[in-house]
Amino acid sequence: MELSATNTTKRLTPQDFRARKGATPLVCLTAYTTPVARLVDRDCDLVLVGDSVGMVLHGLPSTLGVTMEMMILHGQAVARGLEHAFMVVDMPFGSYEQGPAQAFANAARLMAETGAGAVKLEGGATMEPTIRFLVDRGIPVMAHIGLTPQAVNVLGGYKVQGRGADATRIMDDADAVARAGAFAVVLEKVPAQLADDITARLAIPTIGIGASAGCDGQILVVDDMLGQFTDFRPKFVKRYAELGADAASAIQTYAQEVRARAFPDDSHVFSDKPAGTK
Ligand code: KIV
Repeated sequence: MELSATNTTKRLTPQDFRARKGATPLVCLTAYTTPVARLVDRDCDLVLVGDSVGMVLHGLPSTLGVTMEMMILHGQAVARGLEHAFMVVDMPFGSYEQGPAQAFANAARLMAETGAGAVKLEGGATMEPTIRFLVDRGIPVMAHIGLTPQAVNVLGGYKVQGRGADATRIMDDADAVARAGAFAVVLEKVPAQLADDITARLAIPTIGIGASAGCDGQILVVDDMLGQFTDFRPKFVKRYAELGADAASAIQTYAQEVRARAFPDDSHVFSDKPAGTK
């Protein structure tokens, strides 16, 4: 199997994602801004404008306070930075749970105003009619089961889901979203064996986060893996860089140099001679 190093080919479609089931793992990251979208575009198959934006960029304590307006603003910013990757925008808490009609109105708005190729929503069996309604009306849906952070208050925290007898519930959720027509499903914080069983059972790709290397793809929050968001560090986050620590050290050096009048030096200031003369 050939592993392509970068994603410089045409943008994948939901149909392509289904076809990648069991092939080279799908590379997915979140992005919330244009510069980060430009950074991740080359190497990612799918970029998610996640509602994690509320915690990562807006300092909210959970994703519950994220609004449609925030998702549209960040979706538009990310769209400006993508040429290759497929963009999915999260449906925020309260924008789809009332029923299929509410979900369609808000999903259509997200797609129309951001240019996203699909929406993601949280929930399994209870969301089956809603996912089917959206897909039947032209809105591709990526499902999200296991730990669903918008349900943190019902789940009693950000706990692993599907241990022991609870595995049946998560498996039922997986079956339901696949039956409803989701083109892919995020499995968050489920035991590795359960993730592998779901991956083997479903015809659609599974995208793991805190799940298993056996999933059909992986996703991480970009600020987590770059070491920029350090408020907490789930076990499933691998840090590929320490940008937060690097930035803190750069800012400390800047502050010291300003106080010592070491910055700016001659190379950063202008003389009174006309431009072009020495
Ligand atoms: O909001 C988000 O970033 C997500 C991913 C963690 C899957 O849902």
